[in-house]
Order: sequence, then structure tokens, then C-alpha cells
Amino acid sequence: MDKFVMIIFGASGDLTKRKLMPALYSLYRDKRLKGEFSVMGVGRTVYSDTDYRAYIYTELEQFVKPEEQDKELMDNFTQHLYYLAIDPAIEAGYVRLRQRIEELTGEKEPDNLLFYLATPPSLYGVIPLHLKKAHLNRGRARIIVEKPFGYDLQSAEELNRIYASVFDEHQIYRIDHFLGKETAQNLLAFRFANGIFEPLWNRNYIDYIEVTAVENLGIEQRGGFYDTAGALRDMVQNHLIQLVALTAMEPPAVFNADTFRNEVVKVYESLTPLTEEDFEEHIVRGQYTASGNKKGYREEKNVNPDSRTETYIAMKLGISNWRWSGVPFYIRTGKQMPTKVTEIVVHFRETPHQMFHCAGGNCPRANKLILRLQPNEGIVLKIGMKVPGAGFEVKQVTMDFSYNQLGGVPSGDAYARLIDDCIQGDPTLFTRSDAVEASWRFFDPILHYWKEHPDAPLYGYPAGTWGPLESEAMMHEHGAEWTNPCKNLTNTDQYCEL
Ligand code: BG6
Repeated sequence: MDKFVMIIFGASGDLTKRKLMPALYSLYRDKRLKGEFSVMGVGRTVYSDTDYRAYIYTELEQFVKPEEQDKELMDNFTQHLYYLAIDPAIEAGYVRLRQRIEELTGEKEPDNLLFYLATPPSLYGVIPLHLKKAHLNRGRARIIVEKPFGYDLQSAEELNRIYASVFDEHQIYRIDHFLGKETAQNLLAFRFANGIFEPLWNRNYIDYIEVTAVENLGIEQRGGFYDTAGALRDMVQNHLIQLVALTAMEPPAVFNADTFRNEVVKVYESLTPLTEEDFEEHIVRGQYTASGNKKGYREEKNVNPDSRTETYIAMKLGISNWRWSGVPFYIRTGKQMPTKVTEIVVHFRETPHQMFHCAGGNCPRANKLILRLQPNEGIVLKIGMKVPGAGFEVKQVTMDFSYNQLGGVPSGDAYARLIDDCIQGDPTLFTRSDAVEASWRFFDPILHYWKEHPDAPLYGYPAGTWGPLESEAMMHEHGAEWTNPCKNLTNTDQYCEL
């Protein structure tokens, strides 16, 4: 077998140390990196190979779970690492990159290569063009590009054009790590490997759906990137809409990369275009303000002190097709919320008639299904049951499945799964060019609206709370309210039980 080289651009950055190297180490530990392989870090920071190995070793000690750390294995793994200090924006360095790859592989025309772009998005368009000039785009070469792919529709189309001029579509892997999560994939199994839910999975039985992905962290060290992106680009245009697609898509007849991604695109293309009324009434953006010992967003490093970048967004979407017409999807994401949770809550329609008398006259009438992706991964169905004893009081109880029952929580290593898929040449869980554009086509008008209406409301919310109250008002229109797990949470490090 010939030698495989993975080249990481942005090798001294945050993503590399937090996610990519731990993922590669876990693939190495699981013997998924077969044959001879090297990982070459590329970046502007100067390291020798030895220094880079030592640096990554220390970061592995921090970012690999303690129970998965094996000193000898970590040491062996880091012996596969190399480093090249060049500025990836400048073409000249790519001659050296090619030389180093030739030295590592001992080949004149190396093509068993995987490029990973973990750089700031401003370099996504430049790097492939330089790779092409250095003839590093040929044969089996693949490229993984981080999100956000594009800054808006126009730039995403432009990027797609650049990539198509350098690589064939089968060589391009646009990564959205949410799809690498075991629990996101399980949504498909839940829906399509069981006969009992799918008949109910439509406008006749479902009242509305919530998709939530909130975090109890701020923007960490990413002020420079985040302040130019905001929650819409960072989370909604990719992660959240993927979750909507998994929830709303039709079952493909067979499951493969094309059929699955065709169904995703169909969902994006069926999203009801947003109107002026939606911009004003059905999209709420917020920004966290200082609270307790937590900084406000505008005090964060590398953030403009007058920034109007949103760190929270909630919105109502519709899907115009036979299955979903009239069913609102409420989606939201935010930084500095009371807890970290990603979940989908499906609210079924109420019973048509209520025959029991409950204490306070308040019987639960609607079933609710919670698909929790993280943490304490699991599925809960809320159903009404009679309270034992005299009378007929009905109370809502939970039927639940926890991933623990399968012998442990999913490892959660979405990056390991996706890098492995890319190495195996399986693009199923990566975003296709048409999907990325279809998604931008839907969200782009929001960016335009905010640009044209700089005074459009941006609500402050104290760090550690559930976001602006206006987002509750948006739900009240439907007679609904957000499902906030751990309503009374006081310790923000604590995960909420289902
Ligand atoms: C990333 C975003 O894609 O996803 C981050 O850029 C966010 O801002 C992260 O924190 C959340 O991912 P996860 O897997 O921790 O839920």
C-alpha cells in the first residue's frame, strides 16, 4: 500500500488541537489509520517537526479523555507528525509543500493525499488554487473544508466554482461535524428503522417542532472569527438546518451518498421563503451582556466594542410540502445560555377531546417526543397516565431510552468518524455543493435584511439566561413555549437530566 499523507492547514490553531489531533489519535488507537501514514501540519507559526510533536503531545494530554490516554500510543502517534512553516496564502510555499510530500512518500506523483482546511474562512478560496498550481489536486487527492462554507450565497457560489475548477465533486468534502454525531445519525434510524413513528410524522399529527442547540460557553478565543460571522453563519446555516433536514426529510428508497443527500436538498428547497413579516416578527436575534462573573460579548477579546453581531438567534421556519405544510419549526441557538444542550422536540397535536378532570383542570393533552443529541443522549416520550388512586387525575410521565442502555454514551467523536469516512472515500455525511447553496439561498435574505436595516432589533440578554424574552413571544403566537430543560438550573456546569 502506498503512503498516505494528511495535510492540515491551520495546524497551530484551535480546531487542530481540540478536535483534529484527538480524532486522529483515536483513529490511530482503533487501528483505523492503516499502512504508512503521515500528518503534516502547515501554518505560519514556526515549529520544527520535533517541537510540533511535543506541542501536540501536550495538547493531547489536555483534549483526549483521560481514560483514553495511553502514553506509549500517544508518543508513537506523534512520531507520524511533521510540520511545515509557510504562509498558506502565498503560492511560493507550495513548492516546498510538494517537496516535503515527495520526501515523505518517496513518490514523484503523490496523490494519496488528504488536505484539511482548518484555517480562517478567508483562506478557503486561495488554498485550492495554490494546490492546483503545485499539481497536488490530482488522482485520489481529497480536500475537507470546514464550515462556514461561504459568507453568504454569492461567496458560497464563488467558492463552489473555485473548488469545481480544482477538484471533482467526489474529491470535495464540506464538513459539518453535527452529521458526524452518532446521535444525529440515530435520528435516521429512529425514523426509518421503526414502523410506528413514521405514520404520525406529518402535519396531521404534529403541531410544531423545536430544534435547539445552545451552549453555556461564550466565544472562547474566537472573537476575531465570530465577530465577522455571528450565530446565523456559525450554527444555523449549517448545523441547525441539517438537524431540520434529518427531522423533515423523506425516506430515500436506498441509503447511499446520493439518495440521502438528494433528500436533504429537497428539504432545503422546500423551506418557505422568508417575508418582510418574518424578518420583523419571526426572527429574534440577541447578544449576551455581562452578568455575574461573566463578560458581555462586547468585552470579549477581538470583538468590536460596538459590535452588533448576534450570539443568539431564534426563528420560525416553514416547509412547504405535503408532509409539513402549516407545521412551524422553531429553531434557536445561543452562546452563554444556562446549559449546553442539543435536542429536537416534536410536539404532537392535542387529544381532540378531554374527558378527564384533572387537578386545576389542567390535564396534559399533547404528547411530546424529545430526541436529545447531547448531553445525556437519549429519547423521551411524554405520555399521560392516570395517577393511582381515587378519581381520574391524569399526569404526564416519561418513557425513555438512554444511550447508556446500549453500553455507554456514544464516543461523540464526530470528527474521527468523518475523517475516517473521508479516508474511506464515503461522502454521505458531507455537504454537497447544491445543498450548501440551497441552504444559503434560504438564509441569505436575512443577512441582506440586517444589512439594509442596521437598526433592526438586537436584544441583549444577560449571560447565563435563556436569551431574549422576545423569542418567547414569537412562540406564544402559536400558543407554545420553548422547552427549556433545567428551568431552575443554578449550577451552569451541571448537565440537565431528561
Ligand atoms: C462549531 C461552532 O461548529 O460548533 C462553535 O463553530 C460551536 O461555535 C460548536 O461551539 C458546537 O459544537 P458541539 O459539537 O460542541 O455541539
